[in-house]
Amino acid sequence: MNIVILKNYDEVSSKASEIVINQLISKPNSVLGLATGSTPIGLYKRLIQANKENKISFKDVKSFNLDEYIGLDIKHPQSYHQFMMDNLFSKVDINLANTHLPQNDVENMNEHAEAYNKLLAKTKIDLQILGIGSNGHIGFNEPGTPFGNETFIVELEEKTRKDNMRFFNSLDEVPKYAITMGIKNIMRSKHILLLASGIEKSDAVYQMIHGEVTENLPASILQLHPHATVILDEKAASKLPL
Ligand code: F6R
Repeated sequence: MNIVILKNYDEVSSKASEIVINQLISKPNSVLGLATGSTPIGLYKRLIQANKENKISFKDVKSFNLDEYIGLDIKHPQSYHQFMMDNLFSKVDINLANTHLPQNDVENMNEHAEAYNKLLAKTKIDLQILGIGSNGHIGFNEPGTPFGNETFIVELEEKTRKDNMRFFNSLDEVPKYAITMGIKNIMRSKHILLLASGIEKSDAVYQMIHGEVTENLPASILQLHPHATVILDEKAASKLPL
């Protein structure tokens, strides 16, 4: 694991954008694995700017998102389909036909997981962007998820739903299920770029880097990835030994 510690969220976003920009310059038809949530928003803003300034193009980029809530209309403001449109896709020159998110209606959820997994099996993600949950989840692989899992339907932990409640009006509105790439899908990526900022991530970050590799802290698997870069701000890194 290559660990980079920077002052604050802005610096984390800038450093992450340098890495993604270099990836797209060296391989314009890169396959990107994308995350949602608060963490990558600053990165996406910088990518939009770099696209505007013609430093990078997304014309030949393919993307695969990590996860999506089950049962939210894809036009719901908090669906990850909508998040990606609002925070990246509608603002860059990406071909929407090359963007992929898991389908999420309740009736066919197992079929959707299987279909997404088949798509992922046909490709190789060049650069996978990840955030980390305060419980150590990556994607929506909650603690206890087998490392061998491929795309599957997950029941979200109460802690994850509470963490994400800030985007909804009440806990009741936060979906209880999601569809997510499994750890096995994530680990197939050539390069993994995990970003974390804020004190609420500091315990999970400590366990990810210094704890044992255990399904109880899903992100700890990244210790075994041959090319993982972790970019932290000082607060997220505050429990790490000096
Ligand atoms: C989002 C995802 C999640 C988030 C994590 C951190 O697609 O897969 O693992 O990265 O929950 O969320 P934020 O960035 O909102 O703290």
